[in-house]
Formats: sequence, structure tokens, C-alpha cells
Amino acid sequence: MKTIIANWKMNVGVRESVALARGTLLTLRGRKVSPALVICPPFVALSEVRKIVARSSAGLGAQNMFWEQSGAYTGETSPRMLQELGVSHVILGHSERRALFGETDEMVNKKVLQALEQKLVPIICIGESADQRREEQTQQVVRDQLMAALQGVRLKSSDTIMVAYEPLWAIGSGVAATVSDVIETHRFIHLLLGQVFEQAAPGQFSVLYGGSVDAENAYGFLREDEVNGVLVGGASVKINQFKGIVQAAAEVLEAKQTS
Ligand code: 13P
Repeated sequence: MKTIIANWKMNVGVRESVALARGTLLTLRGRKVSPALVICPPFVALSEVRKIVARSSAGLGAQNMFWEQSGAYTGETSPRMLQELGVSHVILGHSERRALFGETDEMVNKKVLQALEQKLVPIICIGESADQRREEQTQQVVRDQLMAALQGVRLKSSDTIMVAYEPLWAIGSGVAATVSDVIETHRFIHLLLGQVFEQAAPGQFSVLYGGSVDAENAYGFLREDEVNGVLVGGASVKINQFKGIVQAAAEVLEAKQTS
């Protein structure tokens, strides 16, 4: 399976989210095979988008959450609140949260543990900066972030974990990583996950690529076995772009069925 996750970031309000959710689901219509879809609107639109998504096969994701269940944490949202809203997935440790809101590896780890506790699928974002890439530290950075995020995680047979490899320099820049770089880093991440979760069944974790994915380049990533899906920012709020990405995934899945 291939999964496409739409991260709308803070780009759409409630009304726009409803319209975009309808348009996004239409991209699945009439297809023999479809990728799995997860829509991550802003918090304020979750309950309205849920009403639309509930009638489809798509999942509903949040873009962040806090790790406590309740209490005096002004402005925060708990895992239980997300579950109550019908949320199935949650993006954790996105580079924008790390860079702009001071999220640390330790905070991401607490969130991952609580997400799993609450039966939410964590989408753990990791990736190196341009400087780190230049200094050939990609694997080290990715390993450190991943190991920190997974500290103390005991994977139950019903748990699923997603890791999104999002190189910082590729996010919103229009310059995606090359397919060969993505394959290399994804292989490394799969290897690490296999070591950490020796007993895991195939399909319990998946590795997605994010960073300037669009209708043009999506096929190139999605056709690779190491790439279980894509996490899409900018192109997920442009319906024609998003349709092209869904189309690319469908073509890949169809080709795999016939081969
Ligand atoms: P862009 O697709 O806009 O580069 O954003 C990627 C991203 O941050 C998804 O989480």
C-alpha cells in the first residue's frame, strides 16, 4: 500500500477546509485501486472535516498534540481530545514545530508514547538541515532523532508507526530530494526500525517522504518499494496538484498488481 498524507498546515480556515476535504475525497472517486489517504486540517477544522471524511476510507490526522490528557495547559490539545474528534493519526515533531516552537526530541518522544497509548498513529517527522547535509551528517541526524523519538516505545501488535523523512531544505522550497537520496535514507530508516522493533510484523511501520512533493515528481518517489507514501504540504492545498499525486500513487499500485 501507499499512503498519501495531506498536511494543510495553517493554510486554510474552517470553510476552506470543508471544501478542500470534499475536493480531496473526489480524487479517489472511480478508481479501481486507491492509495490510503490521511487528511490533516488545522485543529479548528477537525470536527467539520470529520463529518466529510467519516463517509470515506480516508483517515483524519491532527498536526500536533500535547502529551498530557488534561489540566492547566492553556492552548494545548490532548491525545484523548483528538480521539474524541475521530482523529486516527497525528503528525509529531514536524520541523516547523521544532524550529519555530522549540520542540525538542524529548518532547517528541513524550508525544509519541502518549499517541500510541491513545491508539493514534504517530507520524514522526525527522530530517536534516542543509548544513547537516553538506557536512554529510544526514544518517547521524536521522538516527538520533528517530532513536530519541522511539525511546521506551514497546510496540504492541495493534500499533502502527509512520516515519516521515522530511529534509528541512526540501520543505516548501520547491527543491525535492533526489529519488536516490530518498531511497538511501529510507533504507537506513527501515533498517533502524527493524533493529528497534525486531518482532514487528510487516506493515506495522512505514516510511514516507516529504518535501516539495508535487504532481510532477510524486510518481518517481512512490514507485520505489522503500517509499511507503508521501507527506504533502503545499501541493495538498492545490486540488489539481493533489489529484496528480493521487493519480501517481494509483498508477504505481495498478502496475504492481499486474506485475
Ligand atoms: P511541502 O510539501 O510544502 O514542501 O511541505 C512538506 C511538509 O512539511 C509536509 O509536512
